[in-house]
Amino acid sequence: MAQTQLKAQERATRDWPFSVKPLHPVLGCEISGITLEQAVSPKLFAKVYEAFLDYQLILFRDVDLPPATQVAFARNFGEVQIHVLSSHYGTQQYPEIYFLSNLDKDGNPSGKHPDKGTLYWHTDGSWRERTGQATMMYSEVVPEAGGETEFADMYSAYDLLPAAMKSRIEGRRAIHNLDFSRTRRHGEDLLTAQQRSEVPPVAHPIVRTHPDTGRKAIFLGDHAEWIEGMDYDEGRALIEELNAMITPQARVYTHRWAPRECIVWDNRCTLHRATPFDEARLKRVMRRCTINGDRPY
Ligand code: SIN
Repeated sequence: MAQTQLKAQERATRDWPFSVKPLHPVLGCEISGITLEQAVSPKLFAKVYEAFLDYQLILFRDVDLPPATQVAFARNFGEVQIHVLSSHYGTQQYPEIYFLSNLDKDGNPSGKHPDKGTLYWHTDGSWRERTGQATMMYSEVVPEAGGETEFADMYSAYDLLPAAMKSRIEGRRAIHNLDFSRTRRHGEDLLTAQQRSEVPPVAHPIVRTHPDTGRKAIFLGDHAEWIEGMDYDEGRALIEELNAMITPQARVYTHRWAPRECIVWDNRCTLHRATPFDEARLKRVMRRCTINGDRPY
């Protein structure tokens, strides 16, 4: 039986004290009937985490989530990352929050995208030894057009890979490097020498095993620069080929944000990217907390 069918059957037998509505045939669900505060409470968190593992992305609508509460809620998933660029995206009060805002100091659209790297398929923190487990993102202000977030399922990306490609990448590791992706996509705001030294390139398996579900998933995206033991250009070409192959539109869930929504996604088995919007005319303010996970194996 195909893994996706199996997954659908397992989900149907879950006994959850909240309602779950799938957002897309491949991944994502909306949780209702409980508040986000109840969801992270000791009484319900194990069940909510089960839904998170089953659907890879959980959405709560109409949430009141001030920054301090977001950090506190995110801590229920694990240790919250302080990003190497927190001096740029965080505040002194909330270094755990990565503010993605195109507003200037007067609250007007600045014409500048806050992080162009987010416009390309990636998984948060893949450039660290301990990569992102989950990311909790909250929408404060959303543009009338564009500025969606797209999510692609990396379990089926692996399952559906042609056998020849599976054997080509078997046992291979890719080198993930924030300096590479930042320079390539957001070269006007480079990492400083100090920041570069804090996040040296790191090797991760291209096919990883999810520590909680035991399923195999592709672990790649825009921070992957080259492949260990392969000629640099050959490795680059293979990464580009794979990144395109694992994100076909039919297996992508596009989330059109409304204000006051909170999504938690699983970085170990998904890729995501933001879609563009008119940064000179429209406003977009999002807040993200990434939770540290394990070293992929
Ligand atoms: C991200 O890539 O982490 C943020 C995505 C978004 O801004 O929609």
